[in-house]
Amino acid sequence: MKPEAPSNSPVGQSGEAEFLGDPISPISGGRVPRHVAIIMDGNGRWATQRGLPRVAGHRAGTENIRRVIERFADHGVKYLTLYAFSTENWQRPQPEVRALIRLLHFFIRRELANLHKNNVRLQMLGHLETLPDWLQRRVQSAIELTSGNTGLVLNICFSYGGRDDIVMAVRRVIEEEIPASELTEEVLARNLSTGTMPDPDLVIRTAGDLRISNFLLWQAAYAELYFTDAFWPDFGREDIDIALAEYGRRKRKFGGLLPEDIEAFKTP
Ligand code: IPE
Ligand code: IPE
Ligand code: MG
Repeated sequence: MKPEAPSNSPVGQSGEAEFLGDPISPISGGRVPRHVAIIMDGNGRWATQRGLPRVAGHRAGTENIRRVIERFADHGVKYLTLYAFSTENWQRPQPEVRALIRLLHFFIRRELANLHKNNVRLQMLGHLETLPDWLQRRVQSAIELTSGNTGLVLNICFSYGGRDDIVMAVRRVIEEEIPASELTEEVLARNLSTGTMPDPDLVIRTAGDLRISNFLLWQAAYAELYFTDAFWPDFGREDIDIALAEYGRRKRKFGGLLPEDIEAFKTP
């Protein structure tokens, strides 16, 4: 197993910045993103198409999470970050908001034992304090239970916003009384909710819309973006394999040059 290079290191330097180690995923040509982040969109449209209430779509979407985690873990992805509820989603009608909060509880109740058994480490990004006290305690104990696990790191983003993440990081920096002259990108990044995690290599959005919707604004600076028309409840193993294969074909440059371009540059 090769040591993991930082996911945002220039490809040109190591030539294998986003390799996880030995090729374990023939589908993506052995190039596996270390960190995949997903905007799980389209639950409402999935339900409407079937003549069901929107909440039925959210439930089907929540149930889909298990197979998605398993597939990414099988491919050797180390960090999986799922956008479950944005800071803007509070504007939705109260019954829908309440249903989404209940589904967070449903997810933990249904999946925790399985996640723990599979060595998954659960973390939450966003404003947990917005949840009812009993659910905060439930979430906290799930985080603690899995905190020693060494397999896939699962980040659930709830009441999460990319702009808010940056504002909170700035607040922490001010609270720590870090002098302005010592504020660097590294310092700010360390104070984001993702802390010392590598930046996402691949951001996937389901359900056809081509936008970021306030997700990981800072962290996704050099992520590969992948959009699919599949609604989230339908996004399955095959879609994941297709997304990873596409990732394997992307040439990541991080503003630099690919090794072959550097070679071509040298030859007169
Ligand atoms: C994604 O599904 C889940 C959340 C944003 C909470 P949506 O509820 O946004 O589904 P669409 O976009 O209306 O189909
Ligand atoms: C993004 O989806 C947020 C989540 C998936 C949690 P939205 O459905 O809220 O995004 P917009 O409103 O279409 O941009
Ligand atoms: Mg949506």
